[in-house]
Amino acid sequence: MKISKTTIFAAAAALVFALSAASCGKEVPQTQQSSESFSVAGGTVENTEATATDEAESAETTEAATEAEESGKLSGVTLSYSEAEVNIGQTLTYPYVYDTIDEVWSSSDEEIATVDSVGNITGKSEGKCIISVADKNEPTKGAEVKVTVKKSTGVEETNGITYVNGIMIANKSYPLPQDYNPGGLTAETNAAFQELVDGAAKDGINIYLSSGFRSYDLQSQIYNNYVNAYGQSTADTFSARPGYSEHQTGMAIDVNIIDDSFTGTPEAIWLEAHCNEYGFILRYPFGKQDITGYKYEPWHIRYIGKENAEAFRKEADKRNDVNLTLEEYLEIDSYYH
Ligand code: DAL
Ligand code: ZN
Repeated sequence: MKISKTTIFAAAAALVFALSAASCGKEVPQTQQSSESFSVAGGTVENTEATATDEAESAETTEAATEAEESGKLSGVTLSYSEAEVNIGQTLTYPYVYDTIDEVWSSSDEEIATVDSVGNITGKSEGKCIISVADKNEPTKGAEVKVTVKKSTGVEETNGITYVNGIMIANKSYPLPQDYNPGGLTAETNAAFQELVDGAAKDGINIYLSSGFRSYDLQSQIYNNYVNAYGQSTADTFSARPGYSEHQTGMAIDVNIIDDSFTGTPEAIWLEAHCNEYGFILRYPFGKQDITGYKYEPWHIRYIGKENAEAFRKEADKRNDVNLTLEEYLEIDSYYH
């Protein structure tokens, strides 16, 4: 085995793991081998730097390793786990390789999960794939990990605020506390929106902010005006009750013209096609009123971060549904209980 920074790091990490397991009274190899699967650790291993030479050499041998793996010929190597589950966007610490080989790691489907040069596995989109390690000098020598990538189903509540998969939720099922007030759009949302505006301008499209952060009290005034004008059941189809508006998160923005005349404009078409690239999603898509609880709003975008927005778009592609909603993506509902 060539000694590189990654090798030293992997060995050191394995030693730390062995020592901590030993201090729990467990014998490391037996404990690890008996464990078939390994649940999500969520921790990210940062020191995964590989040298340029390592990478060039890896590229040469990855093909052979992949061929061996695909034909089911990988054998002779034992890993600390052979099945794993990881959530989209999370990184699972590498399986320990019990045999001394010159490790070449590869994924059978990088759309689903990627693996770095020491074996850390990152979930990319829902599905199953195989992560393999093979010996650079003997490509049929190796082992596999069956990886399942899932969306997190964890609904967490912190200080009365609901998060699903780390995404703050404000819809008809999950209100925000009355006093939740980030004081305006969040800094990340602002920066991402500025990027979006600049990106649109390069395409000759003028996008501007019409309504950003709205406090509980402001939403209360807006909603009550609509109730007085149209009655509550109609108002509920396009305006959120106070505490239930995404605008209170500081991560929702209404752009340009906030009425049906915006539908089908070049700006609306651009927004739908490109907002994901900047970390936003269209929050109330066409034809999904029964799911989101609101009529189509082509002007309302929600910042969820670039990684989440990319995973969201891939999921929409996979389901062949350009109108995928956050509710469907996170498997949550939206109705007044
Ligand atoms: N128009 C959206 C649903 C809101 O009032 O937050
Ligand atoms: Zn809005």
